Amino acid sequence: MLSRTLFFLIVLSTGLLVSCSSEQNNDPVENLLSQMTLEEKIGQMTQLNITTIMSDSIQEHYDSVTTFVLDTNKLIDFVKNHHVGSFLNGRGVDPENWFEYINGLQRTNMKHSRLKIPIIYGVDHVHGSSYLNGGTIFPHNINLAATFDTTFAYETGKITVIETADLGHSWLFAPVLDLGRNKFWGRYYETFGEDPMVTAEFGTAFVNGIQNCQEAAPYKVAACAKHFIGYSDPKSGWDRSPAEIPDQALREFFLPAFQKAINAGVKTVMINSGEINGIPVHANKEILTGLLRKELGFEGVAVTDWLDIIALEKMHFVAENEKEATFLAIDAGIDMSMVPYSTSFCKYLKELVEEGRISEERIDQSVRRILKLKMDLGLFDNPYPRNDRFERIGAEEHKKVALNAARESIVLVKNEKNVLPLQKDIKKIVLAGPNADRKVPLCGGWTYRFAPQSDIWFPKDMPTIYSALTKELENTTVELAELSTLSNKAVDADVVILALGEETAYAETDGSIDDLELPEHQIALAKEAFMTGKPVILLLTEGRPLIIHKIADRCDGIIFAGLPGNEGATAIAEIISGNINPSGKMSFTYPWKQGHVIPYNHKRSEFSELRPVSEDLQRYSLIDFGQGLSYTNFEYSDITISDTVVSVNSTVKCQVTVTNTGNRVGKESVLWFVSDEVASITRPIKELKHFEKQQLKPGESKTFTFAVNPWKHLSFPDKHGDKRLEEGYFTISTGEQTKRFKLELQ
Ligand code: BGC
Repeated sequence: MLSRTLFFLIVLSTGLLVSCSSEQNNDPVENLLSQMTLEEKIGQMTQLNITTIMSDSIQEHYDSVTTFVLDTNKLIDFVKNHHVGSFLNGRGVDPENWFEYINGLQRTNMKHSRLKIPIIYGVDHVHGSSYLNGGTIFPHNINLAATFDTTFAYETGKITVIETADLGHSWLFAPVLDLGRNKFWGRYYETFGEDPMVTAEFGTAFVNGIQNCQEAAPYKVAACAKHFIGYSDPKSGWDRSPAEIPDQALREFFLPAFQKAINAGVKTVMINSGEINGIPVHANKEILTGLLRKELGFEGVAVTDWLDIIALEKMHFVAENEKEATFLAIDAGIDMSMVPYSTSFCKYLKELVEEGRISEERIDQSVRRILKLKMDLGLFDNPYPRNDRFERIGAEEHKKVALNAARESIVLVKNEKNVLPLQKDIKKIVLAGPNADRKVPLCGGWTYRFAPQSDIWFPKDMPTIYSALTKELENTTVELAELSTLSNKAVDADVVILALGEETAYAETDGSIDDLELPEHQIALAKEAFMTGKPVILLLTEGRPLIIHKIADRCDGIIFAGLPGNEGATAIAEIISGNINPSGKMSFTYPWKQGHVIPYNHKRSEFSELRPVSEDLQRYSLIDFGQGLSYTNFEYSDITISDTVVSVNSTVKCQVTVTNTGNRVGKESVLWFVSDEVASITRPIKELKHFEKQQLKPGESKTFTFAVNPWKHLSFPDKHGDKRLEEGYFTISTGEQTKRFKLELQ
């Protein structure tokens, strides 16, 4: 390992160390910076894609690549002539191959670069070790949030780091902190759902899991809060298309997750590729410098998203050419450009500095942040990967955590006549639907491939719903059926299970759609199932809510499984058999119809007694945010509040008793909402302010508490971000229990 002392000796021996002030000598970042040429500095600000350092032919078959082969000569050119400081990306290949590739990359860089600054390598391990054969794959964020237990987000980050830091993956492009407001959006499943507080809590736990992982020592890994900010609510629902978000809404709904992650020390931020209110975020100085740096106090590295400086010219048309685009982005506050295919960025940025349009001080500001990041991560001490701990990749204990996450993330939505769990003596199940015996629909995008279209990429031993059910229900025949065979096969069956939802995996633009309706052939299959007269259970695997109102009422049971990952089918089977008692609650509002686009925390005027809307419109939610059944029952009672009049600096203690009145052990997530009755800026009808999950034995009662702090829980931001706390009445609710109190300012 190259120690930092050795590193500085090498630098000294080159005779290139320029004299520095004693203060600079004590600060390794300043010391190094003072030795760098302009080209070297700009190189540190440059990030290139993996394909640029492999054979030319890889570009055409990149998504099906199974082995990385480094083209050392290409890398030497980037290192020697352009001083490139960062590379990114990958696909599911074996750990040995990752090791060999990154080892070659870092060693070539150390040999050929003048200052021997290690490369920082970034990978999209967004739900576990996404791009690593044999690694642990967790449920996507939309599921993690449904567990209402942030430990699972922490563990996802931590285990991913344990499995991938040794490979030289020092920078994880996770977590996504975008708010899941727009259900059409092709990245909906990457979000923690529609609630700002849930997103903030889960996002920060994920960041902590990545950045505080001791088990990866000597390596440290940076998280990346993405995509700053307002990416997830494009008007059309299509990826990277324009969003119009008023400043007040941006601050109230989209900002808290980033604010919390920054307060927790997230080391990097990736920028939103789209535009908000007419200005592409990559060119928005008010957002990238004013909001991100000055107001939120972010001191880490801001990286562009894919191609996004070029996009200022070619997609947004706010710059005449790439050089102007480079000016706009650097001036706005970008530190590193994910170029990602060429060194054009280096050329244009150098010209801009030489012309005096960008000062070298501005360059130094970014390079300082990048060098500090590399030093903080210990890259100078440990630039090379290692291959002596690969047994930790996909370890049984890691998969167990992913399985537990999947178990707690699956939501039992409907259970008429207790159709679930299945009776122990059941003889035959007919299982139908496009997702019954496939792996892709359990995992979605960012799994081994960008958008895997075939099960060939997945582990051979990964169960599908069919194989998991067959294993779980040893004494029951599970028979697969299609539309043409369903009615015959169901004659002697006890139940029909329909595995429906989204059939393909998609990521980013691939996920842009114009129709959320369940496809016709799936509806036809469901109708065929209803004709059999047998109980029908609908099992949904999907990354966003496909509209099921044509069939939902006729199903006896509905399970929303989302994208539960590699262990998901096992978890589904255990819930169906009853070996696991479901405890997931929806992390978003499942719309009744396509036009029902409002979230649970909508404004009061969506439904007004003054202008009542039709009953159909009022049924905007098929499954409410926070809804989820269990095989036991939880009764809420005896809500108390420490005072009915509250002053600004006091804390109101709220308590509720929850009793398990059924006959099974179960876990219950208690969600506390606040409603502000009258305010100067219209308030959501209710807002989640606190949640807590606990296990209760049959007959057991537990007290859950929530301490309301007026400034934290009752205030809201105005369009400048200033907090308003207004006198008046509030209602606190949990389950069906409510209490009203008055906030007095004097
Ligand atoms: C995505 C990012 C991702 C990056 C690198 C972009 O297209 O928007 O989320 O981290 O690519 O793969």
